[in-house]
Amino acid sequence: MYLGLLSFLLLAVAAAAYEKICAVKALGGGRDDGPSINAAFQECSENSMIILDSYYSVNTLLLTEGLDHVDVLLSGTVQYTPNIAYWSPNSLYLTYQNATTFWFMSGNDIHIFGGGTIDGNGQVWYDAFNETQNEGTAGSSTLTFARPVILTIGNASNVIVEDITEIAAPNWNNVSPLVLAARCSYQQGTLQFVYQSTNVTYRNIKMSKSIDGWDIYRSSFVTIADSTINNGDDCVSFKPNCTDMIVTNLWCNGSHGISVGSLGQYAGETDIVANVFVKNVTMRYAENGARIKVFGGSPDPYSTSGGGTGYVQNITFEDFYGGCLDLPVIVSTIINVMSLVYEVDSPIITDQCYFTSTAQCEEYPSKLTISDVHYINVTGTSSGAEGSLVVDLVCSEECQDITATGTNLTAPDGQATYICENIASVNELDFNCTSPTS
Ligand SMILES: *[C@@H]1O[C@H](CO)[C@@H](O)[C@H](O)[C@H]1NC(C)=O
Ligand SMILES: *[C@@H]1O[C@H](CO)[C@@H](O)[C@H](O)[C@H]1NC(C)=O
Ligand SMILES: *[C@@H]1O[C@H](CO)[C@@H](O)[C@H](O)[C@H]1NC(C)=O
Ligand SMILES: *[C@@H]1O[C@H](CO)[C@@H](O)[C@H](O)[C@H]1NC(C)=O
Ligand SMILES: *[C@@H]1O[C@H](CO)[C@@H](O)[C@H](O)[C@H]1NC(C)=O
Ligand SMILES: *[C@@H]1O[C@H](CO)[C@@H](O)[C@H](O)[C@H]1NC(C)=O
Ligand SMILES: *[C@@H]1O[C@H](CO)[C@@H](O)[C@H](O)[C@H]1NC(C)=O
Ligand SMILES: *[C@@H]1O[C@H](CO)[C@@H](O)[C@H](O)[C@H]1NC(C)=O
Ligand SMILES: *[C@@H]1O[C@H](CO)[C@@H](O)[C@H](O)[C@H]1NC(C)=O
Ligand SMILES: *[C@@H]1O[C@H](CO)[C@@H](O)[C@H](O)[C@H]1NC(C)=O
Ligand SMILES: *[C@@H]1O[C@H](CO)[C@@H](O)[C@H](O)[C@H]1NC(C)=O
Repeated sequence: MYLGLLSFLLLAVAAAAYEKICAVKALGGGRDDGPSINAAFQECSENSMIILDSYYSVNTLLLTEGLDHVDVLLSGTVQYTPNIAYWSPNSLYLTYQNATTFWFMSGNDIHIFGGGTIDGNGQVWYDAFNETQNEGTAGSSTLTFARPVILTIGNASNVIVEDITEIAAPNWNNVSPLVLAARCSYQQGTLQFVYQSTNVTYRNIKMSKSIDGWDIYRSSFVTIADSTINNGDDCVSFKPNCTDMIVTNLWCNGSHGISVGSLGQYAGETDIVANVFVKNVTMRYAENGARIKVFGGSPDPYSTSGGGTGYVQNITFEDFYGGCLDLPVIVSTIINVMSLVYEVDSPIITDQCYFTSTAQCEEYPSKLTISDVHYINVTGTSSGAEGSLVVDLVCSEECQDITATGTNLTAPDGQATYICENIASVNELDFNCTSPTS
């Protein structure tokens, strides 16, 4: 009774601000709510509010485009069906690294909020992978096992996504925590994709059972703040052509780090990542911390594994904390010695020979230039998985204006090793580097 009155009042107040309100009714009984959700976004595509306050089972691609000034109140749960046979051919193909998505949202001035959940229902996908060991093609798409991204904001501008939980992207593999921690590296997979968009802000997002948290591609002015991600690959990854990125106050558990790249994968392509500011990130069980990864060169003009050009410029990693397991030191030391649990394997890493053979990199070094990269107050402990290595900065051509201040990294055995190659500004680093060959 009261609830009815309350929602009536809320709607009355809201109605004043919107031309239309579409509250999506759930069908229940496991029936497909996808068509109703798509219809609501069509009906309420301008100056409107869309209310998703129930449990929705979705077995239809969500394609919600052409939105203009739309608020999406997601207080319920959108759960995709674990229907591999449907989703593999029908999830939307995104052209980059064969990624596909369950939900593609585009338009201008969109606000998604409300405390609700988007659930990738990944368990069936993990089980299928465990059984067949067929992970699909790199990056995702095949017609039989596509592993879609949970939500893609694409071809969009002026978007805010806040107070949302995302769980169980299909690409994550459900192995025991111990094995997980030991490997710190699983299949590709992504909860959030930002695709060809500008001015997109994420705040207070909780993610778990995912691989990559955010993959950002061909986008500008993206902000990610005050969020947590559990069990990931790259916590945030800046793919080709990301400019003006801000990442603050992030807690990443079990990941490959905050990554610029991978870049330079496709011969003849120009990849640019510039003006990235990352501050206050805690990494646990991570393989890498602040990372830049670039493919080597290639003699093949059609190469899809190196040979691209471009540049990385004006990147700041500030207040990065890595390591420190939630375990007593003695236990983590024993486990480290047994090489079972990684903290941060390589807290600072730049690699211009990513996924490329050493021989190929020697003959065809990467032509992508790296400059103006600043590490400020990067602290913590490496796992020991890379011996005493804590810093690994290896450039193909000379990297310009790389600086480090406030670095305080230790290796488990106390003896930290810093490696640098082709860094023009070694005297701007607050540690003494050695060349990898010396
Ligand atoms: C995408 O999939 C096709 C077909 O399976 C494959 O040939 C291609 O190498 C894949 N591309 C990438 C970048 O993974
Ligand atoms: C996104 O925009 C590009 C053009 O910029 C277009 O080719 C593509 O089809 C759009 N993607 C979707 C899913 O609408
Ligand atoms: C970015 O998007 C937000 C939300 O729509 C808007 O309030 C803000 O004015 C936009 N910023 C710019 C620079 O357009
Ligand atoms: C994976 O498959 C094997 C063999 O069928 C089974 O023993 C194991 O429990 C499965 N693991 C998971 C995590 O489902
Ligand atoms: C962090 O990740 C580890 C390894 O997957 C897991 O065991 C642990 O529960 C996670 N910590 C939190 C607080 O979620
Ligand atoms: C740093 O980020 C953490 C979340 O990882 C947050 O709890 C903390 O308040 C942030 N610190 C500052 C100074 O904003
Ligand atoms: C990135 O931007 C550059 C310069 O505008 C352009 O030449 C290149 O094609 C873009 N690359 C991608 C992958 O979009
Ligand atoms: C460097 O990047 C930061 C963060 O995006 C930006 O505020 C600043 O203006 C950039 N500096 C230059 C010289 O472009
Ligand atoms: C780095 O950390 C030190 C000690 O916590 C602090 O005094 C200093 O202001 C920090 N520097 C920056 C640039 O944040
Ligand atoms: C480096 O970190 C260690 C461990 O947290 C701390 O005891 C030490 O005082 C720090 N050193 C500096 C120079 O800040
Ligand atoms: C680097 O090495 C020089 C010469 O051995 C030494 O004087 C200096 O204290 C070292 N600096 C650091 C940060 O360890």
